[in-house]
Amino acid sequence: MKKVGLVGWRGMVGSVLMQRMVEEGDFAHIDPVYFSTSSAGSKAPSLGGKEGGVLHDAMSVETLKQMDIIVTCQGGDYTKEIFPKLRAAGWNGHWIDAASTLRMDKEAVIVLDPANLHVIKDALAKGGKNWIGGNCTVSLMLMGLGGLFRQGLIEWVSAMTYQAASGAGAQNMRELLEQMGALHEAVKTELSNPASAILDIDRKVAETMRSPAFPTKNFRNTALAGSLIPWIDVAYEHGQSKEEWKGGAECNKILGLPPFRSPGSIPVDGLCVRIGAMRCHSQGLTIKLKKDVPVDEIADIIAKSNQWAKVVPNERELSERELTPAAVTGTLTVPVGRLHKLAMGPQYLGAFTVGDQLLWGASEPLRRMLRILLD
Ligand code: HSE
Repeated sequence: MKKVGLVGWRGMVGSVLMQRMVEEGDFAHIDPVYFSTSSAGSKAPSLGGKEGGVLHDAMSVETLKQMDIIVTCQGGDYTKEIFPKLRAAGWNGHWIDAASTLRMDKEAVIVLDPANLHVIKDALAKGGKNWIGGNCTVSLMLMGLGGLFRQGLIEWVSAMTYQAASGAGAQNMRELLEQMGALHEAVKTELSNPASAILDIDRKVAETMRSPAFPTKNFRNTALAGSLIPWIDVAYEHGQSKEEWKGGAECNKILGLPPFRSPGSIPVDGLCVRIGAMRCHSQGLTIKLKKDVPVDEIADIIAKSNQWAKVVPNERELSERELTPAAVTGTLTVPVGRLHKLAMGPQYLGAFTVGDQLLWGASEPLRRMLRILLD
């Protein structure tokens, strides 16, 4: 049985990964070895019916070197520090990583097997060893639209995103709720009186979210609750934020196409916006098709592209009920709806998709890659 080193299993993405591995019975196929950057020597968890033993030092190249496979959700700084040392020490095992550090390396494949099993298999046949999870928005878009990409129907995509607090981290999820609570607290009395004036309530809410006492430390001094933040990650190039750049760069790499902005690649671009959802990223998509394909054929291609993509008919009630973060959170379903041709012409398709950022957006592609290696 393969020795699988688990690093960063306690954090938010790591915890979701462990939960999914238990649910899918992955532990029955591995010999798990738990690592920690802070508490080596303490008792490791026993998950999936397997005794975990003790925690090993996640900074020890000697111990890590004994693993056949390492799965890490420890973050980019850890990858930056440990991965080159491990390879320099001659370790030839498989590295499965949630962090973005190695994503664009030539040697690395961005894994999302429902969309790019062919790329993964190709790399495996050539001796590939580095398997990196993609950016959450990109993975979720490809889970929804994978079939249209696979059939070569897409000329370009503009993705306008509505990204959840979880993408910024666990502390940001907490802060979002604190902000919501502070807003409610400020107008609790008025709210309980049906005769109170809504504009007075609104003024108090605005004052509260602008007040220095409003909890905004994790959101870089900005309110998210009752508001939004139209910038995610650092500035990058061509006026894009790094999150926006990833859309094009990673999407093309995942699909095994030429690099973003080079001939043969598919332009993917748009604005990435943080909104007050907990852990589901949504995207409003404008798609330029290569030809005029009827909407029912498009819906059919999407519905058949993988078992998780689900077409929501373009109707008000169904969209309100099934195409929302509230409906999707905690599930693997990736609904795609609002499908209709746009006023720009018959080759322009509008769509909206929602997906759980911690499942398909982070942990699920990693555990599936592990299973591919074990098969
Ligand atoms: N960068 C994403 C976000 C999450 O900030 O929402 C991780 O892919």
